[in-house]
Amino acid sequence: MERVLESGRYILGPEVDAFEREFASYCGAAHGVGVANGTEAITIALRALGVGPGDEVVVPSFTFYASVEAIPHTGARPVFCDIDPGTFCVTADTVKAALTARTKAVVAVHLFGNVAPVAEIEALGVPVLEDAAQAAGSRGPDGRPGALGTVATFSFFPAKNLGCFGDGGMVTTSDPQIAERARTLRFHGSRDKVTYDQVGYNSRLDELQAAVLRVQLPHLDAWAEGRRSAGHHYEQAGLGELVALPQPTAGAAPAWHLYVVRHSEPDHLREGLRAREIDCRPYYRTPVHRQPAMQAWPASVELPATEGAARTHLAIPMSPLLSRHQAEEVVAAVRAA
Ligand SMILES: Cc1ncc(COP(=O)(O)O)c(C=O)c1O
Repeated sequence: MERVLESGRYILGPEVDAFEREFASYCGAAHGVGVANGTEAITIALRALGVGPGDEVVVPSFTFYASVEAIPHTGARPVFCDIDPGTFCVTADTVKAALTARTKAVVAVHLFGNVAPVAEIEALGVPVLEDAAQAAGSRGPDGRPGALGTVATFSFFPAKNLGCFGDGGMVTTSDPQIAERARTLRFHGSRDKVTYDQVGYNSRLDELQAAVLRVQLPHLDAWAEGRRSAGHHYEQAGLGELVALPQPTAGAAPAWHLYVVRHSEPDHLREGLRAREIDCRPYYRTPVHRQPAMQAWPASVELPATEGAARTHLAIPMSPLLSRHQAEEVVAAVRAA
């Protein structure tokens, strides 16, 4: 941070350049484009893919609202699809049920740090945008989120697996044209600050945040391992006898961003944990397709797993530092509840 302050360069300078290279290379992608946050990253990446008015984008409803909110800003229509109830991720089958001749892209969310089966979905013949906001540090059978589909987006919101000291985001891709379009769109649709080819955005990762992220990135793998170990502590303490545990997708090693269990009486469970001062909460009790702002885009397919997950899920404590002893305490509280 001192280096940035002394340089006097605060916007689109050497720290952003370096972090874009370092983070893209960590993911296994050829290009990174730093943007202001993970929501605008999705809008910009979709537009860079060529998504616009008249197009449809398939997206899960069981996700953070922003995964969907980013779509109408491109002029396209969100089309909701279901998830696998055990993994909380979309599958090739749930996506296929929502495809139409107008589908231009799929937003596959790596929810809670799990890794959606991107290759299987792209095999349907439609480009996948990975919403990897919650999955920095996870691993899938074919590599890391950020390099599994045509384009990917990240959030560096402080609470994320890789966080900065404010808002930040990134688009990663190995397609040079998509990278170039995203780079132009994040700066008002201009390459040279003289000619403005498109109506773009002012959406940039700033130098201070990039400098912070360059310090954090070398720790990401150790933190991700801590999140995995915390999940194992819960398993070993017998949590699976009491509630349904989150299931990693085939071949995935998730860096659990949130550890989300399912139970038929989640509110009762929550009260029991809170009585022992263990914080926990549901994140998406009302799935996105039932949010008031989404009335213009009603779900066109049934979403039974989404409704079930929304009703039964509960996020219990998760952190890279969660110890075996703490996991046992949480499990004891679940058992008592
Ligand atoms: C799945 C998902 N997508 C998108 C976002 C949006 O990221 P941001 O808050 O940086 O805009 C978030 C997090 O907030 C998220 O969890």
